[in-house]
Amino acid sequence: MENIVDTSHLVHDKAFKCLIKKLKDEEIKKVLDAGSGKTSASILLKYFKEAHVDAVIYPGDNRKKNPLENAIGSDRLEVVEVDLTKSCVRKHYDLCLAMLTLGEAQNFGNSFESLFHGIMDIKAHWFVLYDILEDPCVHFRYIDQYLKEKGFKIVTKKKFRNPHPEHYPKVNFDKYKLEFDSKHFVGYLIKNLNIN
Ligand SMILES: C[S@@+](CC[C@H](N)C(=O)[O-])C[C@H]1O[C@@H](n2cnc3c(N)ncnc32)[C@H](O)[C@@H]1O
Repeated sequence: MENIVDTSHLVHDKAFKCLIKKLKDEEIKKVLDAGSGKTSASILLKYFKEAHVDAVIYPGDNRKKNPLENAIGSDRLEVVEVDLTKSCVRKHYDLCLAMLTLGEAQNFGNSFESLFHGIMDIKAHWFVLYDILEDPCVHFRYIDQYLKEKGFKIVTKKKFRNPHPEHYPKVNFDKYKLEFDSKHFVGYLIKNLNIN
């Protein structure tokens, strides 16, 4: 018996379901959850019934490791501690998800660009990126430009309203502390044209 967290009430779940509409469940067998947590890992295990999920967290991030190990019981999940800005992931994947990950780059002393590049360097056929539209640490215009220039095709890009916005009072942005409300999320389904 597999234990996953019930995410059906969450906007993240509905958004993910909408973003992966064009993917076939049975074609997605190897998945990387880049910046994992019990929500994204459970969503992946729920929608891709045949997939094995490598759940990548920043080394020593016990905030995420403990809930992943305690709340989910699945042979299809493996927690992997890797700094995605430093080490190159060698394995090939059908899908890589980065859900609410990019805004956290600076929490571990990295730049947005180094984390984003580290993720987009992963050898995956498909990517789903999903983050908070209002987060000043997530540079959406940079994402769009990079994808256009580096051989990625945006298949779907969609904005989702957050029914329960949260207030973030002090986000580190360069030398400033900024506040924002998470009123919307933006999700992308991206096809990697650099890989056969
Ligand atoms: C807000 S949490 C993501 C939540 C998760 N995707 C979910 O929906 O449940 C951010 C994640 O990014 C990871 N992370 C941040 N910087 C990272 C890095 N440089 N390398 C690997 N993981 C990183 C953190 O360890 C954490 O797992």
